Amino acid sequence: MRSKVTVVGAGNVGATAVQRIHQLGYADTVLVDVVEDLPQGKALDMLESGPVIGSDAMVTGSNSYEETAGSDVVVITAGIARRPGMSRDDLLLTNMNITSAVTEQVVKYSPDCIILAVTNPLDAMCQNILESSGFPRNRVFGMAGVLDTARFRTFIAQELNVSVEDVQAYVLGGHGDDMVPLVRYTTVGGIPISEMMSEETVDALVQRTRQGGGEIVALLKAGSAYYAPSASITQMVEAILLDKKRILPGCAYLEGEFGINGLCVGVPVKVGAGGMEQVIEIKLTDDEQKALEASAASVQELVEVMKNAKEGAQ
Ligand code: NAI
Ligand code: 2OP
Repeated sequence: MRSKVTVVGAGNVGATAVQRIHQLGYADTVLVDVVEDLPQGKALDMLESGPVIGSDAMVTGSNSYEETAGSDVVVITAGIARRPGMSRDDLLLTNMNITSAVTEQVVKYSPDCIILAVTNPLDAMCQNILESSGFPRNRVFGMAGVLDTARFRTFIAQELNVSVEDVQAYVLGGHGDDMVPLVRYTTVGGIPISEMMSEETVDALVQRTRQGGGEIVALLKAGSAYYAPSASITQMVEAILLDKKRILPGCAYLEGEFGINGLCVGVPVKVGAGGMEQVIEIKLTDDEQKALEASAASVQELVEVMKNAKEGAQ
């Protein structure tokens, strides 16, 4: 029997993620959205690509959650996306309400699933989804670090004219402008990046990575990135479905690791059949630790805003 993956939000990120997962061939997918007929139309279109791409997997579209029942993995992309001039944080309260409502339905129909949060602002939404679900922390985590790291790896590979496959890097912290690319752990073919390029060049690539989402928004004008985000989602979903035990940057609820308690932030995690199976703690320098704490403080501010909004609504 094939695994079952639900993706909530049939917009750019969600639909492209389903397309990529369908192409893998070993998981049936359900695409859910509030817009009438949209997920059904996109799902049918993707299903009809099966004979050409060689995928027998089922793709279903729906405006409700009955079809999602018993999903192994649920990816939440529902919400509004950035437009030029907006930060990820501008999306906060609208997307909080959307992800709370979505999570309630997801949990009702798939009480044993693993949830991958994608909606922005990612770290705050991950925290909201975790709290709304009542699931343990291994079954709710978020995708952002794989994307941020992919951007950093792309820029490094371009700069050095080497294969992207040979660039290893880590971007930690919140998925915001104060994310923390870990230069010390960035290597090219196993060689530290500091041996391959000047500090000024590294700094410029770090800055471009921090603004990577905004760079795409400024170009697209009517939305935000989705090809690299959907590829990043697919890598994480595959790591769960195939129990790969991959070490990837993921947004996890920390319980004291890295000196942070009770907050969802991007750190290295082990991803397998159990979801976020382990937070991998690495030793940071004082500067790296301070940068991670500053990034976590930005996430904490958003969590406080959400908390006050929820208390005000009661
Ligand atoms: P989009 O606007 O193309 O799609 C969002 C979809 O969500 C729309 O089709 C909308 O109808 C649907 N939706 C809204 N409320 C819903 C509800 N209650 N139930 C089900 N569906 C609902 O946006 P896009 O580009 O797909 O981005 C989706 C989200 O992912 C945004 O918040 C964006 O900022 C975020 N994002 C996060 C990334 C990350 O690294 N974590 C990367 C890229 C995007
Ligand atoms: C990105 O980084 C918008 O979070 C999204 O592209």
